[in-house]
Amino acid sequence: MDACAALRLHLAWGVDEALATTPRDQLTPLPPPLEAVARPGIPEDGATARAWKLANSAATRDELRRRLADFDGCVLRATATNLVFADGNPDAGLVLIGEAPGAEEDRSGLPFVGPSGQLLDTMLASIGLDRRKFLITNILPWRPPGNRTPTDQEIALCLPFLIRHLVLLRPRYVLLLGAMATRALTGTTQGISRLRGRWTKVDVPGLPAPVAALPTYHPAYLLRTAAAKRDAWRDLLLLRRTLSS
Ligand code: URA
Repeated sequence: MDACAALRLHLAWGVDEALATTPRDQLTPLPPPLEAVARPGIPEDGATARAWKLANSAATRDELRRRLADFDGCVLRATATNLVFADGNPDAGLVLIGEAPGAEEDRSGLPFVGPSGQLLDTMLASIGLDRRKFLITNILPWRPPGNRTPTDQEIALCLPFLIRHLVLLRPRYVLLLGAMATRALTGTTQGISRLRGRWTKVDVPGLPAPVAALPTYHPAYLLRTAAAKRDAWRDLLLLRRTLSS
């Protein structure tokens, strides 16, 4: 591991002073984990069928991006400034999937460039990863106005494009950032605190075999919940072990 990157991560997480010569767990007892809000199944309708057809007709990532940019079936497109498609290395075999662009992503057209993205960069640097070593994208390519929670309908309309993106990328591993990405890709309504930290399989229609997926906490949640950082760090170590095995 890069010791400097690990130290930088500790600094970013507020560990900026040595208080004792032996480590002490300041976090026990932990508060009960936050459960993700259970949602009903993701709905399918005519507009969703159109989204699947459009997405599946894209033969390349560029084409997929163009199809998505032209897709007028999702209301989020009307209020967003930019389409936020993806960033990073499409050939890396690792895809990180977040939820939806925030204000800075909407302005720049790039995923995870705001405060959550900065935390994510620091966390990933601590295990030797940067954007040349993975691709990063979101369930939704448009910012929901005021960062409101997207509806199930909006997720259903955007999911075909993400699924097609995964088919074109053929990743070996995906890291699912947060409850929404985990639920949209695995179909489970269990809380992220139960699902995180264990590899699972995601069926991607169009790929010959399921993809290994690791759910973990969303960096925005980590910015609000110091106690969850310990588990997030464990998840990253598991990711690193898997990638180097
Ligand atoms: N949060 C996300 O889930 N995605 C982004 O791109 C930025 C913040």
